[in-house]
Amino acid sequence: MSAKNRPLACVILAAGKGQRMKSKGPKVMNPLVGWPMIKWLLESVRALNPERVVVVVGPGMDDLAQAVHPCEVVIQPQQDGTGSALKCAMNILQKFSGDVLVLLGDTPMITTQTLWHLIQARHEAMDVGIAVLAAEMGNPTGYGRLLLDKDGNVHAIREEKDASPEEKQVRLVNTGAFCMDSKRLERWLGGLNNRNAQKEFYITDLPEIAAQDGYKTRVHITFDNDEVRGCNTRAELFALERIAQQRMRDHFMDRGVAMQDPQTVYFHFDTVLGEDVVIEPNVYFGPGVEVGDKTRIRAFSHLEGVKIGKNATIGPFARIRPGTTLGDDVRIGNFVEIKKSSLGDRSKVSHLGYVGDAMLGEDVNFGCGAITVNYDGFEKHNTIIGKGVMVGSNSNLIAPLIIDDGAFIAAGSTITQNVPADALSVSRAKEEVRKGWAAIYRRKKTERKARKPAPQNKTAETAEKKKPEREKVGS
Ligand code: UD1
Ligand code: MG
Repeated sequence: MSAKNRPLACVILAAGKGQRMKSKGPKVMNPLVGWPMIKWLLESVRALNPERVVVVVGPGMDDLAQAVHPCEVVIQPQQDGTGSALKCAMNILQKFSGDVLVLLGDTPMITTQTLWHLIQARHEAMDVGIAVLAAEMGNPTGYGRLLLDKDGNVHAIREEKDASPEEKQVRLVNTGAFCMDSKRLERWLGGLNNRNAQKEFYITDLPEIAAQDGYKTRVHITFDNDEVRGCNTRAELFALERIAQQRMRDHFMDRGVAMQDPQTVYFHFDTVLGEDVVIEPNVYFGPGVEVGDKTRIRAFSHLEGVKIGKNATIGPFARIRPGTTLGDDVRIGNFVEIKKSSLGDRSKVSHLGYVGDAMLGEDVNFGCGAITVNYDGFEKHNTIIGKGVMVGSNSNLIAPLIIDDGAFIAAGSTITQNVPADALSVSRAKEEVRKGWAAIYRRKKTERKARKPAPQNKTAETAEKKKPEREKVGS
């Protein structure tokens, strides 16, 4: 897609070291909602259906080159500015003729629609050589300022470090997205120099060079500043994370998910939620969570790597760990941890339990405080529980273990042997009832208290406390 059906090439500049982030890896690999920020940008670009997409990376940024596959990758040998990075990309676009959309990899939240409007702006008049995406920022610090002529065209872009105090007052800023004709751009790139505060080649010098060639730079102002925020520091990364999380929330609410307090719910980019899912406050979705229609995730639950069926209830205060599958109508209650396990339809682990490396059939009732003992200090072992099994409260199921369909585990049991179908397995210490014991105990206590003289002084009292006399009660 391009204006007037012109071919489109997108160039993404991503070779910067990200020194202001104080991080070793490429800046654009920092995740937003768990996804490298460059991927967000590529997603918006992809929808434009460009003929070529070229990503400029730095030497040794192999993980970045891999992440952007199948885009074309160019290495910028020396990070000496955005202008020089663009030159590297144009070296492999010599045979291309059409529009070139230049984007900064550290400005990843731009939408396809905004990019499309920018391309359109380039085609508004014959003498428009460059369209630049701009924003009115309340606080423009750090951004290049757009200096306009009396007709509203850009005559120069001034970087923060090169700007005079008056120029710093300008709030219309360069977002870094430009659209230009490829052949003219090649010509203009020859005019870049590094005579500036940072001794770098700036793409922001292009409007002045284009003007000398008789072309104007048109401004397209975005409505939504959140789309065009750059990311140079950790604080800005956090600001982008908030924007990306909000996009996820809006996306799910549009698709029929109910959230009582959306700001307290955190998603991962691959979260999948069905219709009429209800999410209570303070819920965290890690990677790989899929939730079926009408399931309710109750407050303070933490989910990762789990596929949950329809009409289930999870939490409050549930922790579901990777490798888990929960069937339809499952109930997971408070203070329950499930790891690498599967639960059949309608099974319940309602309170205070641990299920790890286990396979539970349908209609299992896993009682309060029961746990699978899956680790022997060396290895993990599996527990298999058949359909309709009742696991009594506070049981320890020592794996490896198979409990067959319909079996009943008595509460408080420690089970080490397989249990056949429909059997009862009970393992407890012998129970003893001593008749009248409590009454004798109480009487002796009262008599002793009556005999005891009142404490004389503090020292005596302390000594008394230190050596409590043990009472023997009838056995
Ligand atoms: C840049 C713009 C500034 C704009 C701001 C918007 C320039 C000179 N300045 O400043 O006008 O307001 O973005 O966020 O263009 N990069 C390379 N090779 C390099 C240097 C940078 O590929 O040699 C890449 C970086 O990886 C990054 C992008 O270009 O993705 C922008 O570079 P950055 O250093 O962040 O520029 P800003 O100072 O933010
Ligand atoms: Mg930047």
